[in-house]
Formats: sequence, structure tokens, C-alpha cells
Amino acid sequence: MKKHIVLLPGDGIGKEVIQSAKDVLEAVAAEFDHSFTFETQDIGGCAIDLHGTPLPESTVNACTQADAVLLGAVGGPKWDRLPSHLRPEKGLLGIRKALNLFANLRPVKAYPHLLHASPLKEAVVSGSDLLIVRELIGGLYFGTPSERSVDGQSVVDTLAYTKQEIEQIVDKAFQSAQLRKGHLTSVDKANVLESSKLWRETVEEKQAQYPDVTVEHMLVDAAAMKLVTNPNSFDVIVTENMFGDILSDEASVLTGSLGMLPSASLNQASVGLYEPVHGSAPDIAGKGIANPLAMILSTALMLRHSFQLEKEARTIETAVQAVLDDGYHTADLQIENGHKVGTEQMTKMIVELIKSQSATVSILNC
Ligand code: NAD
Ligand code: IPM
Ligand code: MN
Repeated sequence: MKKHIVLLPGDGIGKEVIQSAKDVLEAVAAEFDHSFTFETQDIGGCAIDLHGTPLPESTVNACTQADAVLLGAVGGPKWDRLPSHLRPEKGLLGIRKALNLFANLRPVKAYPHLLHASPLKEAVVSGSDLLIVRELIGGLYFGTPSERSVDGQSVVDTLAYTKQEIEQIVDKAFQSAQLRKGHLTSVDKANVLESSKLWRETVEEKQAQYPDVTVEHMLVDAAAMKLVTNPNSFDVIVTENMFGDILSDEASVLTGSLGMLPSASLNQASVGLYEPVHGSAPDIAGKGIANPLAMILSTALMLRHSFQLEKEARTIETAVQAVLDDGYHTADLQIENGHKVGTEQMTKMIVELIKSQSATVSILNC
């Protein structure tokens, strides 16, 4: 299979983990006889420095024409004082909007060997396996442009959704639940927000089309509590943009580190964008210690969702599992008696395992 992939390293550890993604995909291509070509484009802070904008037109054009896009992370203290429309994060929001990536899938899984890396009790975390379906191109992030009053003493941010926007993300969540355990938790703040009331009504209407999925409504404050007290009660969570952003960082605590969570951002067509849930981690950037697993697991999601390469996706996921089972981990994971490694060494181990797994597959096929 021939595919063209755009790489958007961005800033901070984004640049470090995107290299891991490329190494892993090159190993997959070599072992499974695919041809992946790569093209790197600028986004975020580095694009501001080079082009005066966080999202150059050339980047948007390249992404539109690609088969898939991989993004590292954007942002950092260097650009924190810029006006909102020029911040690195605007580049990320802009590319999500330009590609119409309304559905952000954030799987959260507690790996057996990482249970004690979580500050939560092992008995609580054990077995957690959930999917957050976050609406990605609406809500507070994309309201009417926020403006300060002339005296700078007041401000308005707007939270807007159309019914059609809610319907498309809710459909995606029901379909995701059908492929999993068939349970959907819709998270809102319907006791206060009008937008959440429309959200809840829409979920209730859609429910009739998916009789095989059980539905539960939960207020976001209670959901935040339940995520860390009874994570096993969740299968698929669907929620609006801002709630999904906050709940997914919280859910990363189940896995032991934010550096473990991958994501897939999808539209109705074929070009998907795949990125870790974490940011540019300025506190550890340049040290070679970033956890590349969220990025590497995002490449597995790309192979699965954009290229329908399920076997290759599983090969990557199995390699990640095997490295963790052997006790290897990066510094963000607090593991007793483990073997601490850096970004490069972790990546090399995954690459080697991909090579040996595919060798096993071909021997078995003989
Ligand atoms: P962050 O996710 O960058 O970091 C939070 C904490 O988690 C830090 O202590 C960091 O060291 C740690 N961490 C995150 N990923 C890690 C990894 N792979 N390995 C090891 N440790 C990891 O969040 P922040 O510090 O709030 O934000 C920093 C910058 O990143 C900000 O400019 C923010 O806007 C941006 N950001 C970008 C994205 C994105 O590009 N998708 C996502 C979140 C934040
Ligand atoms: C994420 C990030 C982004 C978001 C920021 C950097 C704009 O936190 O992808 O989770 O809030 O969507
Ligand atoms: Mn976030």
C-alpha cells in the first residue's frame, strides 16, 4: 500500500516524539511491504518564527492533499504573550477546523504493568478501558470571536452548537459504542447550560436508532469524580469540546501518565489527523526523556482508521504492551524495579519488536 503522510512536529517534545512515529512507521512499511512517504510542514510556535503565522497556507494545503496527518504538539512559553489570534494553539485549532475534524477519539487503557504507576488504587484502575469521544470543532473554542471591552474589564466567550453538529458527534459515539461494549455515557451540564439541554435532547432522540447501545446521562462534575473512583463503569463517553479536553487529561491518570494517551481526529471523509493528547511539555523538552508511546500509539490509530491496516496497527500496540510488560518505561512513569529509558531507546525497542513480530507472523504463514 502506498500512502503519503504529512508530519507536523510543532514545538517542544512534539519534535522529539514525531521522530519516534516516523521510525516506527518506517519499520512497519519495511516489514509489511508498504510504501509510506513523509513530508514535514510547520505549525505552531515554529511556524510563527519562520512564517509569522501559526498555520501557514502551505501547511493547510499539504494536509488537505495528504492521506493522513501526524502532529506532535504545539506551544511553549516563548509564544505565551502573543495576542490570541497569533498563538501556536491557534494553528492547531485552525488545522482541525480546516480539515473538519469534528470527532476526536481518545482511548484510555490501564496497562497491567502500569497499574501501580497511577496514584489511584490499583483495584480502582485495574481493567479500565474507555473511549472519550470529544467534539472537536465547536463549543467555546470556536464561538464568536471573543473580545475584551474597550476598558479591558470585561470579556465574553460564547458556547455555540447547532443540532446538526451535535448529531454528527453523537452518531460517531453510538457507532463507536457498537464496536465496543455497547454502553454510552453522555456527559453534559444540562442542569445549567442551554447548549447541554440541546445536547441531551439530541442524544435521547438518537438513541432510538441504536437500540443495541445502553445510554446514561451524567453531569460533568459527577463524571469527573466517577472517572477516578469507578472508571470501570465507563465504556464510551461522548461530550462537548471543552469538557472532553479536561476529562481526557484527568483520565490519563488511570494509565499512569499523560504520555500514554493517543488520539485520532476524524472527519466524514478520509483525511484524519493523529496526535498525542499531551502538549509540548516545555519542562522536559530537549532532554530526550519524553514518553513517545502516546505518539506511537497514535500511529497505530492512523493505520487502523485511515488506512484500514488492522494487522499493522495491532503489531504496534502489541509491541508497546510487550515493552511495558518487560518493565521498560520513560521517566514520567513511576515504576518500582523498572528499567528507565529515554525517548530514543524506547523507540528503538518498539522498532525491534515490530521487526521480530512480523518475522514470527511470516514464519507462521509458511
Ligand atoms: P503538557 O501536556 O505539555 O504537559 C503537562 C505535564 O505532563 C508536564 O509536566 C509534562 O512534562 C508532562 N508530559 C506531557 N507529555 C509528556 C510525555 N510525552 N512524556 C513525559 N511527560 C509528559 O501541558 P502544559 O504544560 O499545560 O502545556 C504546555 C504547552 O503545550 C502549552 O503551550 C499548551 O498550550 C500546549 N499544549 C499543546 C497540545 C497539543 O499540541 N495537542 C496539547 C496540550 C497542551
Ligand atoms: C488538546 C490541547 C488543545 C485543546 C490546545 C493546545 C488548544 O489541550 O489537544 O487537548 O485544548 O484542544
Ligand atoms: Mn488538552
